[in-house]
Amino acid sequence: MLSSPEAEEDLAAAANRVRAAHVGDGVHLRGLIEFSNICRQNCFYCGLRRDNARVERYRLTPEEILRLAEKARGYGYRTVVLQGGEDPFFTVDVLAPILREIRALGLVVTLSIGERDEAEYLALREAGASRFLLRIETTDQELYRRLDPGMSWEARRNCLASLRRLGYEVGTGSLVGLPGQTMESLARDILFFQALDADMVGIGPFVPNGDTPLGGAAPGDIHLVRRMVSLIRLLLPEANIPATTAMETVERGARKLMLASGANVVMPNVTEGDYRRRYALYPGKSCVADTPEGCRSCLGEMLEGMGRFVARDAGFRRRGDGVE
Ligand code: 5AD
Ligand code: SF4
Ligand code: FES
Repeated sequence: MLSSPEAEEDLAAAANRVRAAHVGDGVHLRGLIEFSNICRQNCFYCGLRRDNARVERYRLTPEEILRLAEKARGYGYRTVVLQGGEDPFFTVDVLAPILREIRALGLVVTLSIGERDEAEYLALREAGASRFLLRIETTDQELYRRLDPGMSWEARRNCLASLRRLGYEVGTGSLVGLPGQTMESLARDILFFQALDADMVGIGPFVPNGDTPLGGAAPGDIHLVRRMVSLIRLLLPEANIPATTAMETVERGARKLMLASGANVVMPNVTEGDYRRRYALYPGKSCVADTPEGCRSCLGEMLEGMGRFVARDAGFRRRGDGVE
């Protein structure tokens, strides 16, 4: 890589200062509920792809989802992220009552359920979802076409535009280290996040999954991910930027490093029991053998050790113009 270790440290230190000045020392914890690992898509990198017969599929019931949301509130989390594959079972009619009930618990709801049409995004927004995560994955359209068969890059970009129009806080992001990805395209990813004025940007290393067509590829370089995160903090000073689970998976302690390099969000998993393991986007996922309670105290201690703290507000994107 072109960058020296010293340059990486300088960049991270600058990003850390900008993070402190613009979003403060509070770290927002978003409780992640992995409610279904069933997916109609076939992304080459992902263990939940429909052609992967090895993954044990599951879908939580609405009652199970609500129970996890209540527990998330009990851990002090202000937001729950409902994440799943593109599971056709979870229509708007199934999701809307779940969203209403979670809202009634006083929690903010983030959805991460992939591509839907604008009418569905609208109905979900009206049912109480405030935020939506949809990674663009890569801005290299040719690479996207190769790795996401049957999907369209333009359609994905249009989904992000719809979400924006509908007043969602929009999170996006990309994978770093996809086979064939160039440094130039990573630079374009950052410009894309800036042009979208993304409220949240999640960057993670590609982690090869042996049950997918990219099983034999090399993993993404975590130094490159770190430099991306620091640059994104410098260019989008008010964005919410998570220290991702994929980083922690590739290197233990990496989440902490990312929180000191520009990140200000962690998404602890609140999914329980064997479902944690079965939500297998990639192998070796950190915390699979841990409990939600364990992760909550682990993170609390980690933050305290770094002179940071668990933010108590709901963590909407801050705006330097005074609009909260
Ligand atoms: N390695 C890292 N991240 C992955 N994702 C899917 N498969 C992998 C993998 N093998 C990410 C995608 C998706 C998010 C939910 O998980 O970026 O948007
Ligand atoms: Fe499905 Fe998302 Fe995995 Fe693609 S990345 S296969 S859409 S869960
Ligand atoms: Fe899960 Fe540390 S956050 S064990």
